[in-house]
Amino acid sequence: VSLLAHLCQRIGDQGPLSVADYMATTLTHPEHGYYVTRDPLGAAGDFTTAPEISQMFGELLGLWAAQTWLDLGQPARIYLAELGPGRGTLMADALRAMRSVPGLLAATQVHLVEISPTLRRCQAQALSDSPCPPHWHESLAHIPNDAPLILLANEFFDALPIHQFVRTADGWRERGVGCDGQRLVWCERAASSLHPSQLPDGTAIALGKILEFCPSASACVADIAARLVQQGGAALIIDYGHNVADAVGDTFQALRAHRFVDPLSTPGQADLTAHVNFHTLARDAKASGARVFGPTAQGALLQALGIEQRAASLRRKATPAQSEQIDSALRRLTHADQMGRLFLAMALAGRQPAAIAGMPPPSE
Ligand SMILES: C[S@@+](CC[C@H](N)C(=O)[O-])C[C@H]1O[C@@H](n2cnc3c(N)ncnc32)[C@H](O)[C@@H]1O
Repeated sequence: VSLLAHLCQRIGDQGPLSVADYMATTLTHPEHGYYVTRDPLGAAGDFTTAPEISQMFGELLGLWAAQTWLDLGQPARIYLAELGPGRGTLMADALRAMRSVPGLLAATQVHLVEISPTLRRCQAQALSDSPCPPHWHESLAHIPNDAPLILLANEFFDALPIHQFVRTADGWRERGVGCDGQRLVWCERAASSLHPSQLPDGTAIALGKILEFCPSASACVADIAARLVQQGGAALIIDYGHNVADAVGDTFQALRAHRFVDPLSTPGQADLTAHVNFHTLARDAKASGARVFGPTAQGALLQALGIEQRAASLRRKATPAQSEQIDSALRRLTHADQMGRLFLAMALAGRQPAAIAGMPPPSE
């Protein structure tokens, strides 16, 4: 059965799916899920991420992890975890940069949270000669918790399923995905996935406006925060999104071959994402006792971590063509009209370290 047929059958049996159910099934169905069946990254795929643009991104995050380890007092063991490691490029670049800090790799155990068997194979390949062989997990819950945690998540939270609610004259209605013959269509769901008390009173919000909720992002960040409080350590979350309370707007989008497509038109063949609500993530992390740093713009974080100096050092050994590539990558990663401002970085920490490399002081 194709994914479309499977979705239509479920809709026939149970009624319209929530957007979250549609997104989760489409991305992670064990047989047909988008991430399960392919490597979607790079020019030949559907989208390109920061670590695939330049080695500088992973290297600087590796140095961020190294500084965090130093600031934690050089513990004898740390769990270096990554959520959704894609092709493993970020982790490979990070570990290479971390070699320069004596004692760090001997203390480091690498843990990768990845649901895709295809991408796990890419990660194994990228890390095949790594001094820290990785351990794979289906979820964060399986990473051991008896040593400090240093966690990286780049473009992971945008893949977590969102619910959408539309403001109507009769109050909030949940947006659903129905089936019209062999075509998926937008509709309203009779039953709401959220308790009414979780939705704002809405009278100040214009008719037709959409509110998005991502309960799995909230649960994940609460889990990270609780671990940081209990185990010690820090997390760095980077993604595209916003930092506004009760932000309204439809950010659900689908990318196929580097172009936006209708999110319902080709289930399982396009990447589905939504903007990350950093305001909510910060609130959830604080509620679990973590300190929150930022969010700050990705460009500002990379500048503070020394991307200009790293680019200059790479240029010294580069051909003119390579120098051009370095300049173009630097611009893409940091410039305000490219990834520099749309992408935000937020750090979380337990009681230690007091400060986080590259980030502003903790917010109240
Ligand atoms: C957009 S890619 C980002 C890849 C990588 N971080 C990078 O920057 O290149 C999302 C990654 O998260 C993984 N992923 C998506 N949903 C997941 C889930 N629910 N649990 C674990 N991994 C997931 C995907 O398989 C993929 O590795």
